[in-house]
Amino acid sequence: MKLMVIGGGGREHAIIKKLRENPDVERIYALPGNGGIAADAECVPIGATDIDAIVQFALEHAIDYAVVAPDDPLVLGAVDRLEQAGIPAFGPHKAAAVIEGSKVFSKNLMKKYGIPTAQYEVFDTAADALRYLETAPLPTVIKADGLALGKGVMIAHTRDDAYGAVRAIMEDKQFGSSGDRIVIEEFLTGPEVSVLSFTDGTTVVPMVSSMDHKRALDGDRGLNTGGMGTVAPNPFYTPSVAQRCMDEIFLPTIRAMNAEGRPFKGCLYFGLMLTPDGPKVIEYNCRFGDPETQVVLPLLQTDLLTICRAVTDGTLADVDVRFRPDAAACVILASEGYPLKYEKGFEIAVPDDCEPQVYFAGVEQRDGRLVTSGGRVLGVTAVESDLKSAVASAYAMADRIRFQNKFCRRDIGARALSAQEK
Ligand code: AMP
Ligand code: GLY
Repeated sequence: MKLMVIGGGGREHAIIKKLRENPDVERIYALPGNGGIAADAECVPIGATDIDAIVQFALEHAIDYAVVAPDDPLVLGAVDRLEQAGIPAFGPHKAAAVIEGSKVFSKNLMKKYGIPTAQYEVFDTAADALRYLETAPLPTVIKADGLALGKGVMIAHTRDDAYGAVRAIMEDKQFGSSGDRIVIEEFLTGPEVSVLSFTDGTTVVPMVSSMDHKRALDGDRGLNTGGMGTVAPNPFYTPSVAQRCMDEIFLPTIRAMNAEGRPFKGCLYFGLMLTPDGPKVIEYNCRFGDPETQVVLPLLQTDLLTICRAVTDGTLADVDVRFRPDAAACVILASEGYPLKYEKGFEIAVPDDCEPQVYFAGVEQRDGRLVTSGGRVLGVTAVESDLKSAVASAYAMADRIRFQNKFCRRDIGARALSAQEK
């Protein structure tokens, strides 16, 4: 079989490495992939949002199955377009991807169907939002409606910060038309849990839970990033919490999307906060998380391609999806200065024995050598029988991988480990 994976980061590398385990897979094309993914797939310089070119490539190369990984092509309707051209694809249709593409849509969905989430108001003018903020409780959370590269959420602790956030999003258009409308919501507290799930629109199969570390610096300080590391499973996600999430959040969401005439097929990501009042939805994503995928897929025992195809065919109930009862930790190695200004173009040296556990993101090839080309350069994942050993092994590998200006957080997994000890 010939496969095509859309996207070019660490998440896509993890998906590709897992798909390759299926002996029927002869070839995988990555569009666009990256210089590190090139060791595991044929990289094609077609951008992830160039849907016309993606469909044309798929037809010319007789692709049997496509996996669309990033949010933007899904929201633009890449799966619909591929299917119209006769190419089965993993991921939600455009009508369902709106669950991530519009925060106003997802908040209204949760309200209509009684799915627990933060209280909120929607605004389509800055004047109305600013007036509301004069008396709103603080801290408050301001979210651009549309996609904003994961940066469209601002937590304001003072009224001036809140006014500034509204002006940046709605008047200065920091995120373009994604900020035409905003959601202002209640500030929630509690541990965060990411739960990725496979769903074919009827059956929902949660994957092993995980915990992201979004801030740039140790102790959850510094700016928000695309994610500096992950662990799985998440010790805060106990079996009783999991049951509650299934009953109050996962199944109601699947049913709500069906009732809206927007059945969701693909990977539905539940970003949850375990508040003192129970689990609540912070966000939905219409895709695999990055870097959650880099800890979740290495624990997956069942063949990924079999699961994906069952999701597309609507036969997920027939697949026995299993995860190893082990723990995984992923440490992201970034360029010093990320997420602001950083230098790039430095050669990367990865010891051969680490290579299978490395997921490349911001890298490119120059004269046959791998060099840094982005903020998040790569992730390295260790799987061990317990979380403490997984964290230790991931750091041991991270320390042996070399490039100039290498930077990582030193406390990935620390909060999870202290929760386990309680
Ligand atoms: P998002 O881009 O929606 O994942 O939000 C980024 C981060 O902002 C989340 O991971 C949370 O840590 C935080 N956040 C979002 N919404 C809220 C909220 N209502 N209360 C507290 N923190 C929030
Ligand atoms: N790790 C968060 C995300 O993928 O959106």
